[in-house]
Amino acid sequence: MIKLINTKENNIVNKSYADHKNMKTWCGLLVFGCIFALSAADGDDDDKNYVVTSRPFPDGFMFGLATAAHQIEGAWNEDGKGEQIWDTWIHEHPNVVFDGSNGDVAVDSYHKYMDDIACLKEVGVQYYRLSISWARILPNGRNSNVNKPGIDYYLNVLRALKDAGIQAMVTLYHWDLPTALQNDGGWTNPEIVDLFGDYARLCYQLFGEYVQMWNTINEPKQICHGGYGIGAYAPGILSPGVDEYKCSKYVLLAHARAWRIYNDEFRSTQNGKITIVIDSDWYEPGTDADKEAAETRMQFIHGLYGHPVYKRDWPDIVKQRIAMRSQLEGYSESRLPAFTEDEIDYVSGTYDFIALNHYTTYMISASDEPAIGTPSLDNDAGVTVWQKDTWQTAAIDWFKYVPWGAGKLLRWLKSTYGDIDIMITENGVSDQNGTLTDDHRIRFYTLYMSHMLDAVYEENVRLTGFTAWTIMDNFEWTLGYIGKSGIYYVDMNDPDRKRVPKKSSTWYANVIKTGCLVDSCT
Ligand code: BGC
Repeated sequence: MIKLINTKENNIVNKSYADHKNMKTWCGLLVFGCIFALSAADGDDDDKNYVVTSRPFPDGFMFGLATAAHQIEGAWNEDGKGEQIWDTWIHEHPNVVFDGSNGDVAVDSYHKYMDDIACLKEVGVQYYRLSISWARILPNGRNSNVNKPGIDYYLNVLRALKDAGIQAMVTLYHWDLPTALQNDGGWTNPEIVDLFGDYARLCYQLFGEYVQMWNTINEPKQICHGGYGIGAYAPGILSPGVDEYKCSKYVLLAHARAWRIYNDEFRSTQNGKITIVIDSDWYEPGTDADKEAAETRMQFIHGLYGHPVYKRDWPDIVKQRIAMRSQLEGYSESRLPAFTEDEIDYVSGTYDFIALNHYTTYMISASDEPAIGTPSLDNDAGVTVWQKDTWQTAAIDWFKYVPWGAGKLLRWLKSTYGDIDIMITENGVSDQNGTLTDDHRIRFYTLYMSHMLDAVYEENVRLTGFTAWTIMDNFEWTLGYIGKSGIYYVDMNDPDRKRVPKKSSTWYANVIKTGCLVDSCT
């Protein structure tokens, strides 16, 4: 396996877990197939006696598959599409992508969307989570210039989904801001709130009759921390703890604007559901003494976006710590921009359900107050973040298999925000070779879903849907084509980009058919 640096989380995994080095490898990490239905044995003793649940998915539970425009469509400059920040950033800095590739062609879904829909049908999902490329329908981001071929493309996809009997869950923004808007300040310019609202309204008008579920924004943390904090994602700006938090504020206001437009102008005729998609790792206290530190980290990661929406305003601990550190750094006011009372009201309650993207877990230890110096989200949170070196790794270092983290995160969502319906809008695992006999992926999904079901049965968590990431191997952002998460394989040297089923696609089809993770549910 090629060793890759961590761009997504930028956490320094600074402590190994030597105690676990001599763990029992009675199944062996590489013999994935042998025991997934019986035991976790994920290389972590914490979970070694875990037994996959034989309880079924609840009645009405929905299964889906997800993609995002820039990762699959290609056709980056075709038929009048405008440039968006990932096109521009990668073309200007090709070295930001690990394998030197880009999304110019990707898996060519702009021309091959019927192949994608054939995969969805074959697996039997009830819904497809896809995203609209803002610049494909509004090349400069503003409603003054509308691109008809771009609109036709999404209408064709949505109509084909309808014909296939598959519901559409559409994300309005999956990281691909029109470059023209970035040139005007992007997510740190307050004007973005109304511009996003205008774009959202246009999408509801054009596509709303075909869309059952809308996601306003995908993963605000990656947009703001990745894009403006650590500069690891487009637009690649390095302004940790400053522009990063401005971005957080305007992303939330833009989401709220789009949610309210739907709620006020379209809900009564279109009857869809709409929410924001928040990604979160689970942060597990290393010891009982680290519980407060772990909760602080949760508030800095999920709470920063979840609290203003599902409750009100930024979380208190986040406000307090950033204000305290800003003052010591000599700022005249907190680096975390305050919401006005009106803005707090405007953002609060703008959800129909909780949408969660979840992949991995970190351990947390309390630490001394980090030195005052360069601001950053990590220093603002002020805790030590690490992973056990016994946890199995996916295609990239930070991405460890920790199935029990998924169950704990669901329980935390319920205890933190209350009894709200939750959909998993992304979960999945990558490898680097795209093997067709992907037993490790089957094992990953089985264990993650099983822990999720435990939270449903043991804690009455209202989990209503699961979306696997992703249909087919595709452009994995700065990993290029090296991080392969599809349940279908695509040979990137094949001009036809044929979608080839992996073993996991048959497995997922069976779970959907039976509603069960084991041979027979009780
Ligand atoms: C993103 C996807 C990405 C996936 C796997 C999520 O954060 O929404 O676009 O491909 O993670 O890394």
